[in-house]
Amino acid sequence: MQTLALYNLKGGVGKSAAAVNLAYLAAADGYSTLLWDLDPQAAATWYFDIKTEDGKTKKVVEGNTPIGRLAKPTPYDNLGVIPADFSSRYLDIMLKKVVPPREALKRLLKPFGEQYSLIVLDCAPSISHLADNVFTAADLVLAPVVPTFLSLRALEQVQEYFKQEGYENSALRPFYSMADRRRGLHRDLLENRPKSMARSLETVVPYSSTVERMGEHRAPIPAFAPSDDAALIAYAELWLETKKLLKF
Ligand SMILES: Nc1ncnc2c1ncn2[C@@H]1O[C@H](COP(=O)(O)OP(=O)(O)O)[C@@H](O)[C@H]1O
Ligand SMILES: [Mg+2]
Repeated sequence: MQTLALYNLKGGVGKSAAAVNLAYLAAADGYSTLLWDLDPQAAATWYFDIKTEDGKTKKVVEGNTPIGRLAKPTPYDNLGVIPADFSSRYLDIMLKKVVPPREALKRLLKPFGEQYSLIVLDCAPSISHLADNVFTAADLVLAPVVPTFLSLRALEQVQEYFKQEGYENSALRPFYSMADRRRGLHRDLLENRPKSMARSLETVVPYSSTVERMGEHRAPIPAFAPSDDAALIAYAELWLETKKLLKF
């Protein structure tokens, strides 16, 4: 089992869009995939139109029910989702029970190895105890970066934090997201990649109204867009690049 996190300290950069589309593409590629929505904003949960049952999550926290029961099916083969309701309200309590505290999420994920080849973590934009757990659990952390100075600065802060805390720098890989070549600054930053983007993936996810329309369809892009759609092509390339970086 491999664990992929979509993370950046900055919000609104395309983490959830990438998590949802990559999880769908991985599942369609034959990898049994579980997307875990760790952000209380619950964007990924919303895109998959997942309903939650409150009683069940309480039982998991109390230790009476295995965590695997929280995974909900999606309309798509090979793809399950743990909705944000559980993650945001109860995960903190569970994380605090484990020693060493940064390994709690990794341990929670372990039993999923029997059923899933890939776990995709859609993260909240914060550096928190949960983020430390994500960095410990993830084999690969993909950070979407909009080609702007503020977005690059957020990436640099995360890179600095990785260094400071001793996380594997090679596990953190940025990629450009919401790139709009009509804008001069975007073009400049795409063509002359700053040092912080030295390890970036080659795929650039373009600014695209198709991504915005995921909210209208409540579905990943490949489920509704034509095969020549630019965003669909970009996410497909992103999945191929990501797959090579994971150890299947
Ligand atoms: N490539 C893109 N092109 C256009 N809009 C995008 C793109 N990626 C994301 N968006 C839009 O930007 C907003 C934030 O995206 P989201 O994936 O939720 O970011 P994050 O999870 O980093 O907060 C959403 O409204 C989404 O539809
Ligand atoms: Mg999000």
